[in-house]
Amino acid sequence: ARKIIIDCDPGIDDALALALAHGSPDLEVLGITTVGGNVDLARTTDNALRLREFLGFGDVPVTAGSAGALLRARVDAADVHGGSGLGDALLPPATLPPAAGHAVDFIVETLRADPGEVTLVAIGPLTNVALAVLREPRIVGWARGLTILGGSYTRGNFSPAAEFNIAADPEAAAIVFGAGWTVTMIGLDVSRAAMATEAVAARMAAMGRLGADLLIPCVRFYGMITADGGPAIHDACAVAHLIDPSLITLEPAVVDVETAGRFTSGMTVTDFDLRGRAPNALVGTSLDVGRFWDLLLAVYARVAES
Ligand code: BDR
Ligand code: CA
Repeated sequence: ARKIIIDCDPGIDDALALALAHGSPDLEVLGITTVGGNVDLARTTDNALRLREFLGFGDVPVTAGSAGALLRARVDAADVHGGSGLGDALLPPATLPPAAGHAVDFIVETLRADPGEVTLVAIGPLTNVALAVLREPRIVGWARGLTILGGSYTRGNFSPAAEFNIAADPEAAAIVFGAGWTVTMIGLDVSRAAMATEAVAARMAAMGRLGADLLIPCVRFYGMITADGGPAIHDACAVAHLIDPSLITLEPAVVDVETAGRFTSGMTVTDFDLRGRAPNALVGTSLDVGRFWDLLLAVYARVAES
């Protein structure tokens, strides 16, 4: 199984991504790190702890990280994810505490211990990843890869130009894209297609406690199942890509993060025309939606039965 660290801000779609990662036999989750994002760090960490116990992640460490952006005031997305961050899902309080230490140290030390083997998956603002790069630039070579859910080369969701995870900490994203590795950027261009239908919801509703207590209250609150399309479960796309790379088409590009624009701060300026330059990103350009949902529902059914 491919070893991963998930850096996240649960978050409804983060929760569904964690369930996918936990349930897939193709992935081994070495740790979950949290960042302030959709809601504040105390809530994203508490949600990660609740999800770990509800999903049965056992002893996978949950380590708290950065509360806010490197240089900017914190923004959130509580309007989309609810005040708790998990919509209408009321998971039991966690009985186990977070791990000691800071997420940045966990990321650096886990990559150092197993060079070439561990993929970092970042599905929140990139603050922790940027700080890890600054603290120990060699992680760029140690990581097997970095896959993010973030960015867009078409339209944004935080602003017309910017996607939320990048807009929440553009300076961090600029550090991450400039670090020297090839970032796999799964952005809104792909993830917007990851919307459920009523048929998908019906399958989820038949999944016992997983469906009744997590999946359904999340997707219904999130307004994902609508005729014209509400928010999609973006974050699950990044995890699905690692389970089955054939689901998402990737194209090499040079991506620069706008940090100064009056109207475009947080934009991922994506140039597919390399003109002899080395790409710093592989950018998702299409999603096989049918097979994406086949994968998710198969893995969720597995989690529900366990
Ligand atoms: C991203 O923003 C957050 O609200 C979601 O959890 C996802 O990571 C989508 O733009
Ligand atoms: Ca997220």
